[in-house]
Amino acid sequence: MKSILDFARAHREAQPIVMVTAYDATMARIVAASEADAILVGDSAAMVVHGLPSTIHATLEMMVLHTAAVRRGAPEAVVVADMPFITFRRGIAEAVRAAGVLMQAGATAVKLEGVTGHEDVVSHLVGSGIPVMGHLGLTPQSVNQLGGYRLQGRSENDAAKLLAASLRLEELGAFALVLECVPAALAEQITRHRSVPIIGIGAGAATSGQILVLNDLLGLDASFRPKFSRRYRDGHGEILAALNEYARDVRTARFPARAEVLA
Ligand code: KIV
Repeated sequence: MKSILDFARAHREAQPIVMVTAYDATMARIVAASEADAILVGDSAAMVVHGLPSTIHATLEMMVLHTAAVRRGAPEAVVVADMPFITFRRGIAEAVRAAGVLMQAGATAVKLEGVTGHEDVVSHLVGSGIPVMGHLGLTPQSVNQLGGYRLQGRSENDAAKLLAASLRLEELGAFALVLECVPAALAEQITRHRSVPIIGIGAGAATSGQILVLNDLLGLDASFRPKFSRRYRDGHGEILAALNEYARDVRTARFPARAEVLA
């Protein structure tokens, strides 16, 4: 993909949209060389990169550094940057400032969670030329209010609220929505009723695309295995094996070899 317009094109042509997170230049370079369509600099960086307990701990400074690094690694990619916790709830001026620095760091678009109570922010950002991706369902920045990382939209009432929120985001000009951890039937219903692409994570197979956290996809954390994710490689095992091979080579004087010694 070259721009956010390609989201609409892919959606029109019923081409599934493939997104993945990245947080640094090296991984962004690899993602850019892959068949994935776009990169999300997720606030999951707080957890998977910084080892913090939740995305609530992501700061704007952190997100700016990760966004800039990803942009340097993937100069041509569509890069969506998460607006961190509370930065879009302090009024329009603060939201515009936060989104502005993310865009100047290299984001193509910003993503923000929820819609109720910050409709004005979404429409102001869109009106200012900042593409906005919505995020509904399980919104991890609200984990304390949601009572944990759990499936959302299970009751009829909650499902109706999610459907209404997706319509609101579309009306406000969001170019796409992430829908996280909702029943597949509800995700299908929302996807059918919306004209913007719905990018699912833990939302079944009927959405317009999928997004995964890169570290989960690569199996980098042996202790974390969300049911809805898929481990395409045993990254933890592969990296551990490489490190142990290196340690053994040093201890048995097999590294460095003659060819690896500078003359
Ligand atoms: O922060 C993140 O990685 C995300 C994805 C899980 C959608 O928001």
